[in-house]
Amino acid sequence: MTAPFSFELDATDGLARAGQFTTPHGVMNTPQFMPVGTLASVKALDPEDLHRLGATMILANAYHLRLRPGDEMIRTMGGLHRFMHWDGPILTDSGGFQVFSLEGLRTINEQGVEFRSHLDGSLQQFTPESVMRIERNLGADVIMQFDHVVPGQTEAGLARVAMERSIRWLERCRVEFDRLMREDPDAPTPVQALFPIVQGGIHADLRRESATAIRDAADWVGLGIGGLSVGEAKPDMYAMLDVVNEALPTDRPRYLMGVGFPEDLVEGVARGVDLFDCVAPTRMGRTGAFFTTTGRRSIKNAAWRLDPGPLDDECSCAACSRFSKAYIRHLFVSEEILGLRLLSLHNVHFLVALMRDARAAVQAGTFQGWSRDWLARYHSRST
Ligand code: GUN
Ligand code: ZN
Repeated sequence: MTAPFSFELDATDGLARAGQFTTPHGVMNTPQFMPVGTLASVKALDPEDLHRLGATMILANAYHLRLRPGDEMIRTMGGLHRFMHWDGPILTDSGGFQVFSLEGLRTINEQGVEFRSHLDGSLQQFTPESVMRIERNLGADVIMQFDHVVPGQTEAGLARVAMERSIRWLERCRVEFDRLMREDPDAPTPVQALFPIVQGGIHADLRRESATAIRDAADWVGLGIGGLSVGEAKPDMYAMLDVVNEALPTDRPRYLMGVGFPEDLVEGVARGVDLFDCVAPTRMGRTGAFFTTTGRRSIKNAAWRLDPGPLDDECSCAACSRFSKAYIRHLFVSEEILGLRLLSLHNVHFLVALMRDARAAVQAGTFQGWSRDWLARYHSRST
């Protein structure tokens, strides 16, 4: 594996793993949840908040940052780390997912994707090569390949076309990535890692083919699993994780893209996943939803009007250690922006802490019992 990247497994328990992933901007424990800062901001949270709640690696998005403020502008400002004042590891997604959700606004061919900006309607083109240059300029530690993502229910024929195209695009990404590492050594982060993305919809044979082809193509620092949590049933997603992780190398971090509900994180760790990201904790926080150890709740519920307790009795976040549900409900009802900030803080803390607990259970060799009890309680809805 290219220095300064490395991955070490401290412990395993069944398929669950406790590891340490070293990047140019620091070491992170796995399993870990990575908060999403699409536009170089984890909405409503600043880097101090993120450090304090224990986040190590965060995400940003090449599609959004390319359109505004522009990857060249960010490079001029010293790269993403300096621009957003985050000195820990960063991962950028390639925009594959965003571009393909622009239904009606895009045309796809082997070369790449043409689309209209959702901001000003201007015509844009993304190719595997151009996306590598954008991600080089942004300067994240880990950059994702440009891939072709299809909805969860896509039939095998179309899912195969997208999966095989993603593999051809991976090779083009790799060639351009290697060239940039050689010929553009002054980029904000000189040594980055390119992660491939396994596709294949909910078709076990396609998933196995994709994972095997990717595994054999190069010595990847880590590997992404994409095209899940995009409308398929949860049992289908879990089945795909079983198939994919059986085919992927065990000594590399595995990143399940865009999956971030608490139960999916626990089920993912049980199937050998090391990294997760999702906009859910911040997006839900802005709509009034919050996680608790006994399931999801809404702060808008009138039942909390006089409730002096914290969002979750067992949470030690900066919201729960200071504020009552009655107060935070009041903030939401009155549309005070502190309300959505506190729920975002709590929800992100909840997922980061959940992965910390999962890691401790793997190290203690108690993951199976811990996860069974955790899931039973989360699904119990006892109050
Ligand atoms: N985010 C969530 N899923 C995906 C995926 O399949 N590909 C990419 N590029 N990003 C994602
Ligand atoms: Zn909390």
